[in-house]
Amino acid sequence: MNKSQNPISPDNTCQLCPRLAEFRANNRVKFPDKFNAPVPSFGSKDAELLIVGLAPGLKGANFSGRPFTGDFAGELLYSTLIKYGFATGEFKARPDDGLKLVNCQITNAVRCVPPENKPLGSEINTCLEFLKNKIATMPNLKLIVSLGLVSHNAVLKAHGHKLSAFKFAHKAAHELNDDVTLIDSYHCSKYNTSTKRLTEPMFHEIFELAKNKL
Ligand code: URA
Repeated sequence: MNKSQNPISPDNTCQLCPRLAEFRANNRVKFPDKFNAPVPSFGSKDAELLIVGLAPGLKGANFSGRPFTGDFAGELLYSTLIKYGFATGEFKARPDDGLKLVNCQITNAVRCVPPENKPLGSEINTCLEFLKNKIATMPNLKLIVSLGLVSHNAVLKAHGHKLSAFKFAHKAAHELNDDVTLIDSYHCSKYNTSTKRLTEPMFHEIFELAKNKL
C-alpha cells in the first residue's frame, strides 16, 4: 500500500487489486529476473502532452519496467513519437536505450499487468486514483492522447465527467476543461494493426493533430 497522501503511482507491494497482486506474485516466481511490478510513468511531469495507454503487456512493459517497451505496441508508438518530435534518440525496446521523451509523458490507465491483457472494471476504477493524481501533478498539461476506450473512459472519470459526456471515436478531440483537450486514438496494439482497424498513417494523424494543438 502507498503511504504518501496523493501517490502518483502504486508502490511495488501494492495490494489494492488482489487479482493483479496475485498475478504479479506468480510472475515473480515464473520470471524472477524481470521487472514484475507496477510500471511507473515515463517522461517529465512538466510535459504538455500525456499519453495514456491501457496496461503493461506481460512480456513488454511488465518485463522491462517502462511503458510500451518490449512489445509490438511500443514499436509503433515510439517510432511515431520520434517522427513527430515527441521523442529523441533510438528506440531499442530496452529501458536503457537512451530514448528521451520531449514535452510528453506516457502512463497507463492500469499500472500492473492484468491476466490476458484485460483489467477488470474494478481494477480500472481502483487505479484511477493514481491517474487522477498523475494528472494533478502536471502543471503544463494541455493535451491527453488516449489509446483505446479503456483509457478514454479512465481519463473522463479522472476529470469528473460522465462517460456519456464524450463518445470515443478515433481522432475525436474533446475539450475536458478550459486547459485540457483529449484526443482519442485506437490502441496501437498488434491486434488493431493486424486487423487494419488502426493503420500507421491513421496513428501518425493523431500525433500530427497533437503537434498542431500544442
Ligand atoms: N504496453 C503498455 O505499457 N501499455 C499498453 O497499453 C500496451 C502495452
